[in-house]
Amino acid sequence: MQVKIIIGTIAFMLTMIIMGFAALREPARMGQFTDIREGRQVAVGAKIYKDQCATCHGEEGRAETCTDAGGNPIGCQGIPLNHAPLLCGDTSTRMETMGWDGTKFDFIKVVTAAGRGPIMPTWSERYGGPMRDDQVEDVTMFVLNWETEELCAEPEFVYEWPELAEDFLAQDDIEEGDPERGVELYDIGYGCTSCHGNLADPTSALVGPWLGELPEIGGTRVEGQDALQYTYESILYPNAYIVAECPTGPCASPSTMPAFDLRMGENPQDMADILAYLLNR
Ligand code: HEC
Ligand code: HEC
Repeated sequence: MQVKIIIGTIAFMLTMIIMGFAALREPARMGQFTDIREGRQVAVGAKIYKDQCATCHGEEGRAETCTDAGGNPIGCQGIPLNHAPLLCGDTSTRMETMGWDGTKFDFIKVVTAAGRGPIMPTWSERYGGPMRDDQVEDVTMFVLNWETEELCAEPEFVYEWPELAEDFLAQDDIEEGDPERGVELYDIGYGCTSCHGNLADPTSALVGPWLGELPEIGGTRVEGQDALQYTYESILYPNAYIVAECPTGPCASPSTMPAFDLRMGENPQDMADILAYLLNR
């Protein structure tokens, strides 16, 4: 009996000590709790992403390699999400060009919930999509989890695009454009096809203008620019000039076309090859 009381007392005191200790550590624990909750959201979001988003945005979110259900490579229809201009900074470059005032979380959540244009589907059941709010938030958390120090570090090297396309093409380290490589980059590498369709069929363009007539009309868009200069600038800086008519009506301003200056700067030869393909040079 005595022994039981002593054990009981010790156990009680221990409990109090542990609880007191826990109370002291409460703020830290709260932090951990948020981390755990966020961790869980990211994990659930990763699965949603893999099942619903990877076919268009790529397994790694880079819109570089996408596969169909059978594992065969297909052109990525989406744009990169694991992408510094979208994710880095409180107000990322993409938020700025799209004129978004709210938070980054909301930017990604709203596009995911409501969809955008004819290809990016609507996901939230609020707009007739298949997902609950918590699922939209989980996949948003997963996309945000790609914002890492590594992604957002100052790039060691930023390619300086010459102002004039002629100067760019005349550089020693740029080889003559290869249209066959260009078509692959257009279809698969950069997924231009998903928005602009293929050059053979004017009705294949869904989001952006059909580019089959670019050699003829490219030189009529901006005063003082021939088709080459115009196409070069359109790829690097879509907002420099916004085309009037898109397949579903007036083209949106700011442009929904992502700027390719950073991404293509990693392989500038791609520009020469795409230009060769688009302009039959
Ligand atoms: C059928 C292809 C497709 C699927 C599936 C798809 N997307 Fe997209 N997504 C697109 C396209 C195309 C765009 C660009 C739309 C535009 O700007 O016109 C886009 C744009 C976005 C953007 C905006 C990025 C930016 O820089 O403005 C986000 C965020 C996004 N998608 C998230 C998702 C998430 C999350 C999923 C899965 C739940 C998903 N997408 C599934 C095709 C797709
Ligand atoms: C997310 C959809 C999307 C993707 C991906 C995309 N574009 Fe665009 N593009 C557009 C839209 C929308 C416009 C029209 C608005 C504007 O002027 O920016 C456009 C405009 C253009 C124009 C000007 C066309 C004209 O008729 O004057 C060119 C050239 C162009 N894009 C080339 C490309 C190339 C090359 C790629 C791939 C490296 C590409 N685009 C990827 C949506 C896209």
